[in-house]
Amino acid sequence: MFLHLVVAANFAELVSVTILSRHGQRTQMGETIYYTPDKDLMQGHLTKLGMKQHLILGQRLRKHYSATNIFGDSYSPSRIYARSTNIPRTLQSAVSQLSGYFENGNGPDNSTTIPIQTEVNDEDYILQAYVKCEYVAKSVQAFRGSPQYVKWEEEHKAVFEQATALVGIPINSTNVEQLNSELEFKALDVPLTDIEQQVAKSVSDASTDLWKLAFNISDPRYERGLNGMIFGEFFRSNPAIDLQNHNKPHQRTLHTSQAYENSYNVRLYSAHDTTIFAILHSFKVDITHIPKVASAFIVELHTEKDGAPYFEFYYVVNSTQDASRPLASDMTQLTPKGCDNAKCPVSTFQKAWENQTYLHTNLHTYLANDCGNTQSYVPDPTVIYKGGKTGVVFGFLTVTAMLVIAAMWMIVMTCVEKVKKSKQGTYQKLSDQSETSD
Ligand SMILES: *[C@@H]1O[C@H](CO)[C@@H](O)[C@H](O)[C@H]1NC(C)=O
Ligand SMILES: *[C@@H]1O[C@H](CO)[C@@H](O)[C@H](O)[C@H]1NC(C)=O
Ligand SMILES: *[C@@H]1O[C@H](CO)[C@@H](O)[C@H](O)[C@H]1NC(C)=O
Ligand SMILES: *[C@@H]1O[C@H](CO)[C@@H](O)[C@H](O)[C@H]1NC(C)=O
Ligand SMILES: *[C@@H]1O[C@H](CO)[C@@H](O)[C@H](O)[C@H]1NC(C)=O
Repeated sequence: MFLHLVVAANFAELVSVTILSRHGQRTQMGETIYYTPDKDLMQGHLTKLGMKQHLILGQRLRKHYSATNIFGDSYSPSRIYARSTNIPRTLQSAVSQLSGYFENGNGPDNSTTIPIQTEVNDEDYILQAYVKCEYVAKSVQAFRGSPQYVKWEEEHKAVFEQATALVGIPINSTNVEQLNSELEFKALDVPLTDIEQQVAKSVSDASTDLWKLAFNISDPRYERGLNGMIFGEFFRSNPAIDLQNHNKPHQRTLHTSQAYENSYNVRLYSAHDTTIFAILHSFKVDITHIPKVASAFIVELHTEKDGAPYFEFYYVVNSTQDASRPLASDMTQLTPKGCDNAKCPVSTFQKAWENQTYLHTNLHTYLANDCGNTQSYVPDPTVIYKGGKTGVVFGFLTVTAMLVIAAMWMIVMTCVEKVKKSKQGTYQKLSDQSETSD
């Protein structure tokens, strides 16, 4: 009872919670090296365990915040917002996590049915800037040819040999990260042998080192390109934060969406290890492993008694299959740069991160300055846009009507050309989407 009261007091001024989580356990992508769970499922899809992990994460979140009214007793569209990358496993993770938010859902048989917004992958700068932002992608590519990379490869020869001996096919810099994932997934299904545990540890350390080098964020432009838009999400419309109307979302984030005009209390972003890793790196967290499946980064927005807003940031390190384990026992509190302690006034954060953060109104600036010119997103030449067919319907038209139509056609084509210019890349094929991030 006493504990409960303490928690309630702590949360008295909680305004909103933003959860950015990695998808749960998935099947393999590409050729299996060593282990794949649920072989019968499609590649890269969420496994049943992956669904369970997110269902349980959702339940633990609800319990953790139960002393507040942040989730509400039942789903309300003005309270809860969910967004996912446009990839099956993250969408499935979002569905699963949202099902854990309420004891009695809003759907038939008490199921939970909550809309999930998504964005075409080529325009998802919030959750997938790692691959979509040209400057970021080029920096990562350049890293693969750098002396640091060669050094990393040299230093990990023994790890590759040890791993090769275990799995029976050559393990090197190109597939060590995949083996790391596969061992992570296997450990969730069956206990690893001693040798497997050893290899899992060294392969995890090697992959984590590699990522730390690749996500080297001492270049402000790189950091902005990678994280700028998602940092902007922390400031999305909320009465507790007055941003002089700078918090209006850009249209581009809305075209599939429930309008982002409400003061959401809970916002779920379903994404990837890369998304979380980049943020942790920006936060200067001492990262010991690549974010595990169903791990999460959490942003709490509180207000002081006088109404002054402040952030608290947490990293949910471990997911678990135990719904009764308190979430707090797996949460590590983070202190962002610029803040004296973990309780970081919004104005302090905003000032300290002014060069890293993009608000939605600045999408064009972001694209032009930090992600390269949007014109450079040329469609894949192998993809041909098959528009509607023009039928032969002119036989009965009078000359006048044809002239009017011709004039209208020219106007329309001019517009189409403009739209094409500004939206190049929209027709890029999506089939390779699941290969670009984990
Ligand atoms: C739905 O929840 C209500 C309230 O807890 C309960 O009475 C009812 O039996 C549940 N229905 C189903 C189909 O589980
Ligand atoms: C890694 O090994 C694979 C075969 O397993 C090979 O195709 C690839 O070229 C190797 N890459 C490097 C960088 O050695
Ligand atoms: C990190 O980036 C800085 C500046 O961009 C560069 O000087 C440094 O060599 C990089 N470090 C690594 C390990 O790539
Ligand atoms: C996560 O789990 C590992 C191993 O089970 C444990 O050592 C570690 O302390 C846990 N971390 C947190 C923050 O609970
Ligand atoms: C942001 O960049 C400007 C221009 O380089 C610099 O003057 C300012 O100190 C930077 N702000 C922070 C908080 O680092």
